[in-house]
Amino acid sequence: MKILITGGAGFVGQRIALECLKRGSLEVGDGSIDEIVLTDVSEPAFWHPGLIGDSRISTRFGDIGDAQFVHSLFDVSYGVVFHLASVVSAHGEQDFDLALRVNLDGARNLFEGIRHQENPSNQQARVVFASSIASFGGDCMPDVVDDVSKQTPLTTYGTTKVIGELLINDYSRKGFFDGRSARLPTVIVRPGKPNLAASSFVSGLFREPLNGEDCVIPVEPTLSMPVLGYRNIANSIIKLAEVDAALLGNDRAVGLPALNLTVQEMMDALKRVAGNRHLGEHILKRDEAISTICEGWAQHADCRRALSIGLPIDTSVDDIVSQYIEDYLDNE
Ligand SMILES: NC(=O)c1ccc[n+]([C@@H]2O[C@H](COP(=O)([O-])OP(=O)(O)OC[C@H]3O[C@@H](n4cnc5c(N)ncnc54)[C@H](O)[C@@H]3O)[C@@H](O)[C@H]2O)c1
Repeated sequence: MKILITGGAGFVGQRIALECLKRGSLEVGDGSIDEIVLTDVSEPAFWHPGLIGDSRISTRFGDIGDAQFVHSLFDVSYGVVFHLASVVSAHGEQDFDLALRVNLDGARNLFEGIRHQENPSNQQARVVFASSIASFGGDCMPDVVDDVSKQTPLTTYGTTKVIGELLINDYSRKGFFDGRSARLPTVIVRPGKPNLAASSFVSGLFREPLNGEDCVIPVEPTLSMPVLGYRNIANSIIKLAEVDAALLGNDRAVGLPALNLTVQEMMDALKRVAGNRHLGEHILKRDEAISTICEGWAQHADCRRALSIGLPIDTSVDDIVSQYIEDYLDNE
């Protein structure tokens, strides 16, 4: 079986590829993984060493908003597609046209490619689309969001994610493929450099002090956010690809299991886990643009539906920080 990962050079794409290589097979179709195609708009600044030199990994670079390029990816057929390519939140607020081109046109290009790919085994491809908890927002948003909360996002990014979720439901209803949407909370701890997501500081508040650098906290420390550890993001998304469609019914969008934590609780966890390591400082300096976006997001998530279908949840933020130190600092 071949797997396609769009946004495959990104943070989550690389984590999913690593986990797929480690497992060797998924509980989907004929299971065994022959090839993982990572497609992205350009080479990343950093490839995880675990992906380099593995003969099952190949790369294809091009713009997902370009229908011809996406069409060219389907010279082979894929059993599983993880669709992660996206303009992210703050970037989408800066560039409306780009957000629509990449997130909407890109999704349509991809979904049409999967719909029309050769399918000799007559098995529907499994497709997981990375949506976001940023698909909630506005006056309708309840204090705690769950899988039946109304989605009225206050960002262009969130709006494109809601549309993506609806397309996944409809392509699945029509039998074009077997799709699912994973509604991601903020994933911590992103290694390397920040991206253009408004939530980027949430990884920075661990990463920068551990590198001995100061980190500006642009929101109030009392702000609460649902978060998920980077090891479990791959486990959750893969499990969502594997679950029986009957467990999902006709609403294929699932909020991934998250811990609801305040920024202060995360800063405290870093100090607890870091022990005697020298840490850079947290500098509280409110940024109106970032605060407005983050305060407009859901601050608490109820993920009982995800847990009921077997998706994993992190044990604690302390464990996530310990894993990051083990994977990215002590093993370098
Ligand atoms: N990481 C999080 O905290 C988080 C939270 C909610 C949702 N998500 C969603 O999960 C997915 C993966 O997030 P991530 O953290 O890995 O982000 P990322 O920025 O690391 O990866 C996204 C990838 O999409 C690629 N991309 C952008 N424009 C493209 C284009 N025109 N053509 C092809 N590829 C393009 C980027 O180059 C990048 O590698 C995204 O869809 C994101 O919206 C992530």
